[in-house]
Amino acid sequence: MKDTLLKIKAEALSAITQDGADLEALRIRYLGKKGELTAVLRGMGKLSAEERPVIGQIANEVREAIENELVQRAQVQKAAELDRRLAAEKIDVTVPGTEIAVGHIHPLDRVQRDMEEIFIGMGFDIVEGPEVEYDYYNFQALNIPPDHPARDTQDTFYITDNILLRSQTSPVQARTMEKRKPPIRIISPGRVYRSDAMDATHSPLFHQMEGLVVDKNVTMGDLKGTLEMFAKKMFGEDTKVRFRPHHFPFTEPSAEVDVSCFACGGKGCRLCKGEGWIEILGAGMVHPNVLRICGIDPEEYSGFAFGMGIERVTMLKYHIDDIRHLYENDIRFLAQF
Ligand code: PHE
Repeated sequence: MKDTLLKIKAEALSAITQDGADLEALRIRYLGKKGELTAVLRGMGKLSAEERPVIGQIANEVREAIENELVQRAQVQKAAELDRRLAAEKIDVTVPGTEIAVGHIHPLDRVQRDMEEIFIGMGFDIVEGPEVEYDYYNFQALNIPPDHPARDTQDTFYITDNILLRSQTSPVQARTMEKRKPPIRIISPGRVYRSDAMDATHSPLFHQMEGLVVDKNVTMGDLKGTLEMFAKKMFGEDTKVRFRPHHFPFTEPSAEVDVSCFACGGKGCRLCKGEGWIEILGAGMVHPNVLRICGIDPEEYSGFAFGMGIERVTMLKYHIDDIRHLYENDIRFLAQF
């Protein structure tokens, strides 16, 4: 019996120390309830009283030896597994990284956001209106009845007799005055459409930003101060503003507004075509007819409005000489901003 025990011990230890041995399976095989050692111990009942403690002691030693070896090998296997994983997952932190190309805001969007920030800073809200618009808001509510010659200046895309693609952002003025009570102080950026052939300065789709202020005692001075503040923030502190008389059906008086050339400071250069001034927007005092049509009493309230092309400001600011660059999404162009 002693020989059997020692043989089991020798076999077990050699099996356990094998590389990659399945330790749990070996534990069951040697020490489990139906294991080899247990089977031998069952036979101890047949031994004599003198033999029993001797064999019992050997059996305990064998069990202990196998148990210890199992524990030790488990640790060795765990360490080996950790080493293997560390080697497999090793990262060389000295390898240079791959540069990730970062996109940026489109210049047209950049300028629109800059404009919005400036007017928000002066207490204006942003209001949006529909691009598919009624003739009523695009023209009639703006003091341009059917057959009015001013319609010819804006080559409008009609969808039906009374539905069109808005040719300006001014219909948002009318919509806002209908809905809100003064004081009103809004800007409205967005797409507008005109049936113009595409060339370096024209596009059938472009962007405008409208401005509207209505309150008691609003004057031309307020309009001038607001636009002066805008021009300084947009083009630089030294920028001056000039009003030239003009005509729009929905404002009276009306003006075209120039800023002093921010490239040459007014001396005259290529950008301002030697003028020293650059036209950037149309503006005026809201016509009493427009206030009345929109439900605001012109005896009690007055207002001013202005509208400017976002493409135009973008092209001036970034010296872009062809409007098509803004729509073609040529990465070689866009990457310059
Ligand atoms: N809507 C005019 C245009 O498109 C610009 C404008 C807006 C003029 C507001 C005066 C007041 O030309």
